[in-house]
Amino acid sequence: MSTLAVYPGSFDPLTNGHVDIIVRGARLFDRIVVAIAANAEKAPLFTTDERVEIARVVFKEHPSVEVESFDGLLVDYVARRKADVIVRGLRAVSDFEFEFQMALMNRRLNEKIETVFMMPAEQYTYISSRLIKEVFSLGGRVHGLVPELVEARLRDKVSTVTKQ
Ligand code: PNS
Repeated sequence: MSTLAVYPGSFDPLTNGHVDIIVRGARLFDRIVVAIAANAEKAPLFTTDERVEIARVVFKEHPSVEVESFDGLLVDYVARRKADVIVRGLRAVSDFEFEFQMALMNRRLNEKIETVFMMPAEQYTYISSRLIKEVFSLGGRVHGLVPELVEARLRDKVSTVTKQ
């Protein structure tokens, strides 16, 4: 029996921490779906379509990684996809409280779905999409913390915003 995992998130933008978890997840499960939440953030930097396109390009050489967006409750999406597992990354103890709440709420909503936590490589434990956006928008260097495509897209965004 093959195991399908769903790795949900906002991915605004995709970071090398996310990439690390996806690669680890792809080793552990037969297939992993990167599920990009369409409505998770009120004012995302990248549109849902842009986030999907970026992740698809980054994982184009990984046949067991699929990228899709979803709306509504995560557990409903996971059930629709007939997936077995939700994967979430845990970077530090500070992530734990919120992740624990979400995992138990999702279990209450659908007790058949398990949440599995995975730890990224140490060098990515301090990276978050929010920090990447803040550092980049203030002129800081994010090289090595996000895929090169994301870095290029961040540059495009900033130049579009400053031209307006
Ligand atoms: O990358 P993030 O922002 O930490 O991801 C959070 C996400 C998208 C996984 C979470 O907000 C989510 O599952 N949203 C879908 C709506 C939902 O099911 N909410 C209840 C979660 S217990």
